[in-house]
Amino acid sequence: MPGAARGGRRPGRRRWDRDLPLRDSEGAATGRCRVHMGAADEKGRAMTGAGSGETTTVAPGRSSAGGSLGRDVVARAVGVHKEYVMGGEIVRALQGVDLDVYRGEYLAIMGPSGSGKTTLFNMIGGLDKPTRGMVFIDEVDVAQLDAYELAWLRCRKIGYIFQSFNLLPALTALENVMMPMLFANVDPDEARDKAVEILRRVGLGDRIFHRPARMSGGQQQRVAIARAMANDPAIVLADEPTANLDLHTGKAIIDLLKELSRTLNVTVVSATHDHKMLNICDRVVWIRDGKIERIELRENLKITVGSIDGQEE
Ligand SMILES: Nc1ncnc2c1ncn2[C@@H]1O[C@H](COP(=O)(O)OP(=O)(O)OP(=O)(O)O)[C@@H](O)[C@H]1O
Ligand SMILES: [Mg+2]
Repeated sequence: MPGAARGGRRPGRRRWDRDLPLRDSEGAATGRCRVHMGAADEKGRAMTGAGSGETTTVAPGRSSAGGSLGRDVVARAVGVHKEYVMGGEIVRALQGVDLDVYRGEYLAIMGPSGSGKTTLFNMIGGLDKPTRGMVFIDEVDVAQLDAYELAWLRCRKIGYIFQSFNLLPALTALENVMMPMLFANVDPDEARDKAVEILRRVGLGDRIFHRPARMSGGQQQRVAIARAMANDPAIVLADEPTANLDLHTGKAIIDLLKELSRTLNVTVVSATHDHKMLNICDRVVWIRDGKIERIELRENLKITVGSIDGQEE
């Protein structure tokens, strides 16, 4: 994989320390946290503040809303609006979304086409910034981060899975999974061993040297899941992960995501039309016209065989 290991900054060459403000859900300042970015320890892991030993952008303390439910909030949207300007017209893709995403939960974002699922997904994943409102990932206000810090956050804290897999076609499954680790300055041998281990875990131990074109859709999505898990993210975001897969393969992918979420305590947020997702998620966020219509616990869903709330699958 020529040059891949050089994609990130060299360990210890430059250290990015930032004091970032912490705010509560009303936006009031509650303190600051120190974030160290870019430097790596002898094992190539990014170093963090306060000698915590964790490989995350960690802020001290926990948020009130998560705390009141006794749950740890890993991502939070507060009054998020997103507007796009198209041919002189304003498209209001999100209109005041408030959402707490809890650590280790499996959250499905459901809604009709154009309701704002991908836009919300992009906000929670730090892929785009709101027009108004705030997004926190592990209590760090994403708007405070510069381009390099945002890239660091995306690489280390978030794993992405897309409908069209988005694997690099020239690379093998193994190299695709190694790639985010190399960008995070993980030692290449360590990255390779870990990539093999994750590929085995997703059932592709015998496909590690295959390129995407020589794998089925389901296998490619498994590689994408392995890649998303490579840097032990806090959140995995999956946008329509089953949309290009047949029923059976889609179910296997959903089950795999659920299993990884449960065993690794990773938060999974999935924007989806796929009602199979409802069987395994912990909560469902129903979104319509850029607003959250309701949030339901799975056990409260009115699921009947093949349909939900009277809608056919
Ligand atoms: N880059 C953009 N520029 C302009 N409008 C956009 C842009 N991205 C999304 N939109 C608009 O914002 C609204 C929400 O789009 P979004 O992609 O979030 O919907 P979605 O719920 O993910 O839909 P789908 O189920 O079809 O994927 C839509 O009206 C869409 O046309
Ligand atoms: Mg979408």
